[in-house]
Formats: sequence, structure tokens, C-alpha cells
Amino acid sequence: MNIPKSFDQVDQWKSIIFLYDSALREINTKIEILNNEFVHIYNYNPIEHIKSRLKTPDSIVKKLKRYGYDVTIDNMVEKLNDIAGIRIICSFTSDIYQIAEMITKQSDVTVLYVKDYIENPKPNGYKSYHMVVTIPIYLTDGPVDTKVEVQIRTVAMDFWASLEHKIYYKFEGNAPAYLQQELKACADVVNMLDKKMFSLNQAILELSEAQKP
Ligand code: GTP
Ligand code: MG
Repeated sequence: MNIPKSFDQVDQWKSIIFLYDSALREINTKIEILNNEFVHIYNYNPIEHIKSRLKTPDSIVKKLKRYGYDVTIDNMVEKLNDIAGIRIICSFTSDIYQIAEMITKQSDVTVLYVKDYIENPKPNGYKSYHMVVTIPIYLTDGPVDTKVEVQIRTVAMDFWASLEHKIYYKFEGNAPAYLQQELKACADVVNMLDKKMFSLNQAILELSEAQKP
């Protein structure tokens, strides 16, 4: 990310946060528009809700230290990919890939990398589709490509991840083995639920298609 020369005079930190905040607004709007278009064309709303957040200064510093980097603005911009984060919660697993494709197809969005924890769930049972993208933020001096972490998951996956996150933090990453096993078992149930809901939805769609005059 090239920080424009005009930023020399101003507080660098504030400028950077301003960029990430703008990137979140941009991507939020893009996703809302895509969702509205979907409703308009297919009469179907793939997105349940969207959450976005900027990483707090506290957790930026903690993460840089955890990775063994000096706490500098340059390292923060270069090494951290989740200062701006957006989470898109949808109904069905199939929606996830459709939304990911819609985002990828946007001509000003560049996908830096994808982590597909749906195809390859984490050993603890975590499932979600992650993309790190950049979008240009148009400042008076020109565009600045800004990174945003996009997480896409179903309501069921989100339910599991939120609870797992709380437990993980409560035990500072050292939850007793039986709790980890129970969480994994819950992830399997969540997975089954997603599959059942998907086939139920397919059956409903087929029925309503068959009933069309
Ligand atoms: P972080 O250092 O955690 O950001 O991981 P990373 O840079 O290797 O990226 P990854 O894509 O694996 O994870 C990014 C984010 O996904 C995390 O900050 C969490 O929000 C979420 N996440 C990843 N793994 C888990 C998990 O096991 N449980 C939960 N609840 N969330 C997870
Ligand atoms: Mg993170």
C-alpha cells in the first residue's frame, strides 16, 4: 500500500485507519448492491446479515507481537490482512460460493488469496470461506489498494464459530480435551444441519417449480 505523500503531514495512524474504514464502507456497499440485485432478479435474498469491524489498536499490537514483528505502521499494513474485516452470513452453503464469485467478479476487487475451510475444515471443526481482497480507495492523490478480510459462512457455521471463539478465549486456547471433543461433535451436528436444510430447500424449490402453471 502506497501512502500518499500528502499524508506526511498528518498523523499516519489516523490516515491508515481512515483508509481501512473507507475500504469497509466500499465493500459493504458493494455487497448490499449485489444482494439487492439478487433480490430484484431472482426474488431471493442470499444474505442473512453482514457484520464488519475494524481491528482495535490493542489487537493490532498483540497480533504483531504474536507474529514476532516490530510494532510499526509499515508492519501493520504489510503483515496484517484483517485490520478491516467483513463477515457475510448466508442461508445455505451454496450461497457462500455464489457470493464469493460475485465479489471476485467485481473488476476493481483483487483477490490476494482464499482459504476454503468449507472444503478443508480445521481439525477443531471450524468451517468458513475466507478471502483476502484489496479494493482501491480513491483519494485526491490517486487510488490506494486497501486490504479487507472477507469471511463468508452460513448461519449454522456462524453459530458454532461464535461459541467456539468464546470458549477458546475463556481458556486462552487451552480448553480441556473433552470440551474440544464436544465442540467437534457440535461442528458435525452443525454440518449435518446445513446439509439437511440445503436438501429441504432444494425439495421446496423443486415443488414450487412443479406447481408453476
Ligand atoms: P489469524 O491470525 O487468527 O487471523 O489467522 P490467519 O491469519 O491464519 O487467518 P485464518 O484465515 O486462518 O483466520 C482468520 C480469522 O478466521 C480469525 O481471525 C477468526 O476470525 C476466524 N477463525 C479462524 N480459525 C478459527 C477457529 O478455529 N475458530 C473460530 N471461532 N474462528 C476462527
Ligand atoms: Mg484474525
